[in-house]
Formats: sequence, C-alpha cells, structure tokens
Amino acid sequence: MSGIAYLECTKCGALYSADQPQTVCPNDGGVLYVRYDLEHLKRHFNHTSLATRPPTMWRYAEVLPDATPVSLGEGFTPMLPSREFPNVFIKDEGLNPTGSFKARGMSVAVTMAKAYGLKKLAAPSAGNAASALAAYAAAASLEAHIFMPKDVPLANRVECESYGAHVTLVNGLISDCARIVAERKQDEEWFDVSTLKEPFRVEGKKTMGYELAEQLKWKLPQGIIYPTGGGVGLLGMWKAFDEMETLGWIGPDRPKMVVVQSAGCAPIVKAWDEGKPSADFWPDASTLASGLRVPKAYGDYLILEILRKSSGIALAATDAEIMDAFRHWARVEGIFAAPEGAASLVAYRKLRARGFFSADDKVVLFNTGSGLKYLDVIESQKPTMKPPASRQIGGIIGPY
Ligand SMILES: Cc1ncc(COP(=O)(O)O)c(C=O)c1O
Ligand SMILES: [Zn+2]
Repeated sequence: MSGIAYLECTKCGALYSADQPQTVCPNDGGVLYVRYDLEHLKRHFNHTSLATRPPTMWRYAEVLPDATPVSLGEGFTPMLPSREFPNVFIKDEGLNPTGSFKARGMSVAVTMAKAYGLKKLAAPSAGNAASALAAYAAAASLEAHIFMPKDVPLANRVECESYGAHVTLVNGLISDCARIVAERKQDEEWFDVSTLKEPFRVEGKKTMGYELAEQLKWKLPQGIIYPTGGGVGLLGMWKAFDEMETLGWIGPDRPKMVVVQSAGCAPIVKAWDEGKPSADFWPDASTLASGLRVPKAYGDYLILEILRKSSGIALAATDAEIMDAFRHWARVEGIFAAPEGAASLVAYRKLRARGFFSADDKVVLFNTGSGLKYLDVIESQKPTMKPPASRQIGGIIGPY
C-alpha cells in the first residue's frame, strides 16, 4: 500500500506489510501501528503547505494512507477558547459527521477496507462508533454489521438503521458485543473493525493531534483532557506528536495527558492508581456516558504508558458531576456537549482544585461528541425545576 512503509507491533516490534489487510500482531496480539518514511517526508512536507488545503482531516494526507478517501467532511473541528477559563480551549468534536470524533477513525478504516476490496465490515460499539461505521460503509457501498448494547442512546440505533446497516441489539455491554463479532466473523466473512483490532482507526483519530498543534500554532498545550473508553484518541494524538517531532514541526515537550472516565466504569483509573501496566476487567459497568462504558480497553497497556511518559493522570467523574458539567457548559459556553465530553470539564475543575494544573497552564478539553446524540439520556436526567417564587401567583405558574 503506497504511502505506508510498514505496520509495527506495539508489543514485540515485529514488522508487517500493509499490502493486505492486517488485524493484530499474530505473535502476541499487540496493536499494530502504521509507520511512514518520515525521514524522507521531512524533506518535502512542511506545515506551511497546509494553509491552503481543504478544512478536513485529509489535509494531512502525507501522513495518512495513500488511498482514495471515503470522506464525509470529517475533521478540522473548532478549537474554541473557553469563555470561563482564560487558558482553556474546547476542541469541539461534536461537529463531525455523525456527531462525534468516531467519524475520523471510521473514515480511514472504511477507506482502507474499500482499497483492500473488503465487502463486509463488523464492529461492536458503545454507540457512536456504530453510527460512524454505518455512515461511512453506506458512503462506500459496503455492508456494515453492528452489535451494540440494547440500551444505547436512541440516536445511535436510529442512525445505524437509517444508513442501512445490519443492527443487532445485545442484552449486555460492548465486551459482550465484541465476543459475538469474534465468534461469528470467520463464518460470515466479516472484517472486524473493532477498536484497535485493525491499524487504521488510530490513523484517523491521530489527526486530532495534528489539528490541535496546527490550531495552537505548533505549540502544544500543557495539558489535554480526554474522555477515555478504548483510548484510541489518546493513542492517536500521542502518535501524532511523535510523528510531528520527527518531521521537525514540534519539539520534544509533550502535554500532560489526562484520562477521564466515568466512576461507574473506570478500569484505567483503577490501574493507574494501583500503578499497574494493564487494567483489569471492570465488572457491572454502568454510566449514562455510554461511550465510556468500556470495561476492558484492548490498548490499556498503551494508554497507561502514555500517562506515565507524559506525567499525566487518570481520574473519574460521577454521572451527577457529568450532568452538572453538561448543563454548565451549555449555559456558560453555549456548547451542547456529549456527556462524555462534559466529563472533561469535571476533570479540569478537579485538577485545578488539586493544583495539578494552574490558571496559567494552557489546557485543551475534548468534547468528543454532540449532546444532540443523547436527547433521550439528557431528558431522563432533567432536574425537577421549581419555578421562582415570584412567578407563582394564586397557584398559576408563569410565564404570562
Ligand atoms: C462521545 C464519546 N466520547 C468518548 C468515547 C471514548 O472513546 P475511545 O474509545 O476512543 O476512548 C466514545 C466511545 O464510544 C464516545 O462515543
Ligand atoms: Zn507483536
């Protein structure tokens, strides 16, 4: 596959060709990363050439696979300065096609599936990855076979059905969905595009790292807060930073990478607190931030390594804190965030209170999706509002 030098196992370092579809390392199940000849690219690919390119993530074409993109206009989302905190920026991924950052990963994964001549794609999903897969598969005229928990937000199911995907609702979690895909994929001839089970979703998500650097004029911030389930965005951004350093676009300094999870499903936080190199399966996972309901991340060892290397941290937000932050962002920033994204604000507040970040630190908070995907969830969490006393007259409640 032109453009790609080879695929490299993140566990044993074994190299593989990208000329045919690959999944994970056959030796040890390690996640495969796409490698490019960056030393060669460095000679003719300068970030000044980006200025005139279209505002999608495919503007970074030289560091993406060289195939005809299956694109719906994903990426180059706004980097909004916070109206509340002077050095805080909100990267609003809710503006992507299908309303979440999952569009980036699926755009590249489906692009490559098409280039390889694959016909049937399958994925377990917490919800938004399913919507994105269904949309990109439709755009590429490929079959999408989707397995998601039966209690995903309504939008995810309606979107997938509208895009013509084959949808199975599972009485369980994403881990149960993953098991079903693994059991059936051989017989059904499905190519499995599960999180980190193929090398290209990371490539799409790494464009968040390139964009963040470009939008902050090639000076990385002191911190990045990222709502983490499978952790693909975090891995992708870290990979992008290393690539950009090799290209000579940034120096060796890195942001402190912050993982925020839901208190009802926080396997990475627990492993981090216990100083472990990988995470245990989180039993009875439950949270209204459905994208964070990932009891076991396949790339846990990579997430924890990035936290260590970046002097970062992992922390949890309760559902009540998340919904409070959701309402706060809507009213103060004008941002209608996904609950997962609102968890970033909870983490920022906690880390400022602890002194982990100071008011002078530049910090990017990821809103990974749009709240419009969660209307049923948000409505079910609406606080019972008592009207102000001055508007109650003789038992009749205003407005008048
Ligand atoms: C809105 C949202 N935010 C965050 C996540 C977690 O993403 P990742 O699995 O890349 O860590 C998801 C996953 O479904 C999501 O839908
Ligand atoms: Zn390996």
